[in-house]
Amino acid sequence: MKLWSVWAPLYRYLRRPWPLSAILRQEDEALLELLPTFAKHACIVDLGCGSGHIGQLLSASAPIIGIDASLAMLNTLSDTLYDPINANARCLPLKTQSVDLVLAIGLCEYLDSLSLFFESLARVMKPGGVAVVSTSPENIYTHMRRVMGHRIYVHSKRDFGDALEPAGLRCLREKELFSQHLFVLQKRG
Ligand SMILES: C[S@@+](CC[C@H](N)C(=O)[O-])C[C@H]1O[C@@H](n2cnc3c(N)ncnc32)[C@H](O)[C@@H]1O
Repeated sequence: MKLWSVWAPLYRYLRRPWPLSAILRQEDEALLELLPTFAKHACIVDLGCGSGHIGQLLSASAPIIGIDASLAMLNTLSDTLYDPINANARCLPLKTQSVDLVLAIGLCEYLDSLSLFFESLARVMKPGGVAVVSTSPENIYTHMRRVMGHRIYVHSKRDFGDALEPAGLRCLREKELFSQHLFVLQKRG
């Protein structure tokens, strides 16, 4: 997490110049297209929330639970949008079957094991609850992140599918972009 401590104060600014801004805009549009409707008092969790970009896209009426392994990234969050928790996504400190909607955007590529993550995710989701999760394909963008010092794991679509079933999750929808693959997952009832 040391690298994220260095990135935290710069993170928002590094995303502004073109072409990154254009790539991120496309990712946001795809996420909004896939996002299910959620109830006013839904319990929403943003995993690997970083500086809270995803929370700014949602029009949630209550603060979103923002979980991130980097305290430095959590310190950049706005307190009106987020309730921050410093924790690892592989071992979520949340009640079993308590969450309606999970967003995990830009997280899976930092996780070596999808199975552990999906187990942890499925435990906290309510039956019928939904998660929107992204993975990063192997491309120049992924390569650049490695050059900048990140350890990136590319999970194939097959690995992703294989890890879903044992956790009791199923894929409802998916969308492939150049920079990101997005999946809408549901916990079986
Ligand atoms: C690429 S940023 C994505 C931030 C945000 N979701 C977004 O879309 O703007 C990845 C974030 O995941 C966090 N992260 C990486 N590994 C993690 C883990 N094992 N558990 C929780 N957070 C993690 C990093 O600290 C970082 O803030």
